[in-house]
Amino acid sequence: MISKEYIKELKSKGNGAILHFVNDIRENNKILYFLENLGYLPKDFDGRWLLNFLHNKSSLIRFWAVKNIGKLSDETYLSALCEVAKKDPDTTVRREAVSSLGRMRNPKSKKYLYELLQDEDPKVVCQAIRGLLVFREDKNVQDILKPLIEHPNEMVKSVIYKEFFSEGKSKNEQPHPDSHDYLKNVIVNGDVREILKNVPDESVHLTFTSPPYYNARDYSIYPSYRDYLLFLDEVFKEVHRITKEGRFFILNTSPIIIPRVSRAHSSKRYPIPFDIHPFLIEMGWEFIDDIIWLKPEASVKNRNAGFLQHRKPLGYKPNAVTEYIMVYRKKTEKLLDWNIRQYDSATVKESKVADGYETTNVWKIDPTFDKIHSAVFPVELCKRVIKYYSYKDDLIFDPFAGSGTVGKTAKSLHRYFFLTEKDEKYFNYMKQKAHHKSLFKEKETSFFTLEQFIQSKNR
Ligand SMILES: C[S@@+](CC[C@H](N)C(=O)[O-])C[C@H]1O[C@@H](n2cnc3c(N)ncnc32)[C@H](O)[C@@H]1O
Repeated sequence: MISKEYIKELKSKGNGAILHFVNDIRENNKILYFLENLGYLPKDFDGRWLLNFLHNKSSLIRFWAVKNIGKLSDETYLSALCEVAKKDPDTTVRREAVSSLGRMRNPKSKKYLYELLQDEDPKVVCQAIRGLLVFREDKNVQDILKPLIEHPNEMVKSVIYKEFFSEGKSKNEQPHPDSHDYLKNVIVNGDVREILKNVPDESVHLTFTSPPYYNARDYSIYPSYRDYLLFLDEVFKEVHRITKEGRFFILNTSPIIIPRVSRAHSSKRYPIPFDIHPFLIEMGWEFIDDIIWLKPEASVKNRNAGFLQHRKPLGYKPNAVTEYIMVYRKKTEKLLDWNIRQYDSATVKESKVADGYETTNVWKIDPTFDKIHSAVFPVELCKRVIKYYSYKDDLIFDPFAGSGTVGKTAKSLHRYFFLTEKDEKYFNYMKQKAHHKSLFKEKETSFFTLEQFIQSKNR
């Protein structure tokens, strides 16, 4: 019977005792137990017997043999580890072998790690890079690692970028939780593309928006679908620029249907969320989550009537009860913990999300209908997004404000808002609501034309 105490005792007796013991074990599970519980190995430990297990049939035994060899710093094991790293049939064992090579911190491991930079498994390459970064001051190591910024794999690129090319600090000298006063609780009437020319880099903490539909309603006429996507591309690049480091952009879209021109044509469905996604990645947003907004069937347009009658396959048309809430984060080397650490403990405490929050990515929320604006956000949807993705006193932006639901909800949750809206009708609608104190109460909201906004900025 092997126990942890017995393994400890064997180690204290010296290498001969271990060798004798190991030679006698036949069952794989005992070998595995022994290897898993070897623990710390002293500097003078003779681990040559471990080499025998590198060819064992069980990949778990090979894995643990490799892991234990990594505890030794003797260069005699380097070439054996390199062989495993290159040739073992199991990728987990190969990765562990590279990691063990790195952990040995032996300068002679460099030549083996260089070879492994050519490996086709990006994780092996990343482990080899990590092992080499122990010698990051070595000019030769730098010269070999830096060109990997051109590596086809994004994980490898990101490790190299972080190590050698990242400026390390954000362009904006403003403390992360702060925002400019002239953007706080401000609504500007105009084309968002013009307005944002007057907003500095890294100004907002969160953007939540629902873009105008493609040709679906009268406020959104674009020459072509391609033009529509290019318009969104232009706006969202600007949103990216004005977003603070590592903060979120939440986009509500759904595939849209354009009715047929005549009976000789069929209607066309445009998959907006999927078509806009590659643009967002290209401009530097990192995809985080896809949340489904689920509406009751009775609240959506019925597409089922024809099928209900004829029941002929191919003619099936489901009622579209979902929209996407796509969650992106401005790409950064910094972890979310960094963002959170920028806030004082009182703000973190006051911003904590209470019990009863949504735990799944399917959010069942009834749509809201408004007599003036035909596509408003339900307050509940805004509440969740703002609570889950921002802190108290953050600045929340909506480039396509419509009736201003994002602003109103941000205010009620003790955040600031900055909204832009092109259509004067909707701009005045927000103004009117503010006048009646049902929206944006407490602190005054500023309603500006583009010119007034520029003046207020320069004041
Ligand atoms: C889908 S609606 C947003 C509704 C909003 N989420 C709400 O809760 O009321 C899109 C809005 O974008 C506005 N819009 C369209 N193009 C714009 C542009 N270039 N700049 C600013 N606003 C624009 C439209 O007038 C429309 O009100």
